[in-house]
Amino acid sequence: MLSHIFKSFVVALAVGATTASAQNSANSLVSRRLTEYLMPVATETHEFARVPNTNFVLLTQMSDSELIKIELDATTEEPIAFQSFPMGNNSSSQLHGVWPSTVYPGKMWLSLQAENKLLLVDPGQNLTTEPTIIKTIDIPAPGNGPHCVFEIGNRVWAGLKVASKQTGQFYVFSADISNSTDQKLYQCLNSPVFIKEEPTTGLIYVTQDTDSSIMRINVTTGETTQLPIPPSVGNNAVGMISAYGPMSGVWFTLAGNATGGTGTFGHIGSTGEMEFFQLKHPMLGSNAGLLHIADASSVAGGPALWLLSTSLLSTNSPDALIRVTFDAGVTAVSGEEYISMLTQNAMVHRVLPLDKTVLVSELHTFTLAQLTYNNTIAGQWLPAESVSNATYTQAG
Ligand SMILES: *[C@@H]1O[C@H](CO)[C@@H](O)[C@H](O)[C@H]1NC(C)=O
Ligand SMILES: *[C@@H]1O[C@H](CO)[C@@H](O)[C@H](O)[C@H]1NC(C)=O
Ligand SMILES: *[C@@H]1O[C@H](CO)[C@@H](O)[C@H](O)[C@H]1NC(C)=O
Ligand SMILES: *[C@@H]1O[C@H](CO)[C@@H](O)[C@H](O)[C@H]1NC(C)=O
Ligand SMILES: *[C@@H]1O[C@H](CO)[C@@H](O)[C@H](O)[C@H]1NC(C)=O
Ligand SMILES: *[C@@H]1O[C@H](CO)[C@@H](O)[C@H](O)[C@H]1NC(C)=O
Ligand SMILES: *[C@@H]1O[C@H](CO)[C@@H](O)[C@H](O)[C@H]1NC(C)=O
Ligand SMILES: *[C@@H]1O[C@H](CO)[C@@H](O)[C@H](O)[C@H]1NC(C)=O
Repeated sequence: MLSHIFKSFVVALAVGATTASAQNSANSLVSRRLTEYLMPVATETHEFARVPNTNFVLLTQMSDSELIKIELDATTEEPIAFQSFPMGNNSSSQLHGVWPSTVYPGKMWLSLQAENKLLLVDPGQNLTTEPTIIKTIDIPAPGNGPHCVFEIGNRVWAGLKVASKQTGQFYVFSADISNSTDQKLYQCLNSPVFIKEEPTTGLIYVTQDTDSSIMRINVTTGETTQLPIPPSVGNNAVGMISAYGPMSGVWFTLAGNATGGTGTFGHIGSTGEMEFFQLKHPMLGSNAGLLHIADASSVAGGPALWLLSTSLLSTNSPDALIRVTFDAGVTAVSGEEYISMLTQNAMVHRVLPLDKTVLVSELHTFTLAQLTYNNTIAGQWLPAESVSNATYTQAG
């Protein structure tokens, strides 16, 4: 029995060696390195954003309502130090969203989900400086539980993810930043997460996860429309970005359910039609639970996206960072590259490209992972370092 196992092992080794040497002559190994940085222990490490034009990243830990200010090395972008600040009345205030303000350069929006508040803070000049609150916006009833917060034009937006105490309904909140009496609540489905503007039409799109639909808002009329995700392609709309140029429109991801994801993401352009794309690779792609998304386009590399597959909803979905490229007309996926995260079942949460590295937050393991490579522009692999489908061999 033992000798049989030993023989199979030798055969496997021999086959492996042949494959490796055959590949060596054809393909050089590419540079992709992940490093994990430990954050303070917490059960929910949530959103993060870079403070524009600084070497600071702000990361929210919701389970203890702590804001982690992380300093990056100015040259390598490696996280080098952090300082933790409690936000809200106490550790149950549920610090959740974080987003940079453009109207107030250098200032950051935060949400306190359990206190029904949005805060505009000055993160401070250096690592140890305590953030100072510049403005507080109270979410009006019947709204409840601000989750992700965004600034679009002169308005601040938040998806209210908790059912209203008064009506049992869910709402999207929007307020004029300089006129606090101009506030609006749009009733929506369960429950709003990302809120983005379609650049050509100025229409606002909102992902709603549990009810698996996208809401469109015409801010001129206040009219809202639901675009349900066809169950045949997947479910659970979460991540969304606005994109420009050849990718123009909003792009969104489907995170799947307890049985896994479908590797599906979608696009809505100026026509308002939903168009879906599906990852093909059988090992990490077709069951991917795509929670978040970022633009990976570059001048040399053309249109591209970072997609983040998570084990948050199902352990059948991998924790992986996936880079997809498109044909020139952005009508079909032309390449898929898979970077498996170091810690599986970490429930990876958000992806943020910096100037030359990419950061991924791991919700359940209080970790920030950093992808480094030898290229100078995020996602722009040198031609000799790009990975195509050809380098994948099918599992036997
Ligand atoms: C990255 O670039 C450096 C400097 O050019 C080189 O020495 C190193 O071998 C490269 N690493 C990888 C993994 O390609
Ligand atoms: C936090 O404050 C709220 C009310 O202000 C209170 O209900 C809650 O018990 C407090 N939680 C902790 C952990 O102190
Ligand atoms: C937080 O504290 C303020 C003042 O100390 C109080 O008015 C407010 O009700 C508290 N919020 C919550 C959610 O307990
Ligand atoms: C932090 O910032 C303050 C005020 O800008 C400054 O006085 C102080 O020297 C800074 N500390 C460090 C360690 O840079
Ligand atoms: C502020 O908003 C309110 C409510 O929409 C509106 O009536 C008022 O005219 C606005 N004020 C200014 C200065 O725009
Ligand atoms: C918003 O609604 C108004 C009134 O129906 C319409 O004129 C306008 O074109 C709509 N905006 C968009 C971007 O569709
Ligand atoms: C989970 O998603 C799959 C794929 O969309 C679907 O076939 C299945 O019915 C869903 N399961 C539940 C319990 O909703
Ligand atoms: C990758 O594989 C997909 C599906 O098999 C195929 O359509 C696509 O052309 C391939 N892309 C490259 C760059 O080989």
